[in-house]
Amino acid sequence: MTQPTSSSGSTPLLSLIDIEKSYDALDGHAPPSVLQGVNLTLEAGQSLAIVGPSGCGKSTLLNIIGALTRPSGGTVTFDGVDLANKSDEQLATFRNTHLGFIFQSHHLLPQCSALENVLIPSLVHHDDDLKRSAPQRAKELLDLVGLGDRTAHKPGQLSGGECQRVAVVRALINQPKLLLADEPTGSLDEDSAAHLGDLLATLNQEQGVTLVTVTHSPALAARMELKLTLRRGRLEPWSEA
Ligand SMILES: Nc1ncnc2c1ncn2[C@@H]1O[C@H](COP(=O)(O)OP(=O)(O)OP(=O)(O)O)[C@@H](O)[C@H]1O
Ligand SMILES: [Mg+2]
Repeated sequence: MTQPTSSSGSTPLLSLIDIEKSYDALDGHAPPSVLQGVNLTLEAGQSLAIVGPSGCGKSTLLNIIGALTRPSGGTVTFDGVDLANKSDEQLATFRNTHLGFIFQSHHLLPQCSALENVLIPSLVHHDDDLKRSAPQRAKELLDLVGLGDRTAHKPGQLSGGECQRVAVVRALINQPKLLLADEPTGSLDEDSAAHLGDLLATLNQEQGVTLVTVTHSPALAARMELKLTLRRGRLEPWSEA
């Protein structure tokens, strides 16, 4: 198959071609397709916000990009590799190696310190060098997000915004090629949300982290380089409406 190419002629980091998704009927009524032909090309180093009304399929799309859900139709290509050819086990390894996830709730383990929480994804990484260097990297990243003096704190001893910053570091610990965030500021107050938006923008602009975030927040969307709206099952140029 011909590999998708970007405008620069190189292979994009992520390519979605005609992605469709329907869920199975739960009550005898077949629901309409959530995604009806989503096309997207993302280059390494870019940042993208996807906005759209509740229920339009944003999380569904993010989960397809993150190889957590298989599409009903279409092709997802990551770094030139068609994800449809991978088994569920291979997809799990792919996620842990190449992707970082941030959700609306931080999902930190309450009994573990900030540092221990951050290190969890590295414990199952296949690369021994990356595993060995993880504690040092974790401390540097926690420092970078302003939590250098909170590494021994457990989630119950941190604020909501601080927990979410720990979750960002956890998502970065395996040096992912792509960071995916689903409503990362959704559970934060205005100041903490602004702080997290600054952090994500800085990670993109200064550390080169490639980022796709789903958000209801115009302020967070405004911090991203690209903005698209999911409407009627397709991605369209961003608009406030
Ligand atoms: N596992 C599932 N089985 C059946 N239907 C589902 C499933 N997951 C999501 N849906 C349906 O798909 C549609 C899109 O859901 P999705 O969670 O992707 O929306 P969203 O845009 O992320 O919404 P929100 O902004 O509220 O988070 C909804 O109508 C939802 O009910
Ligand atoms: Mg959602």
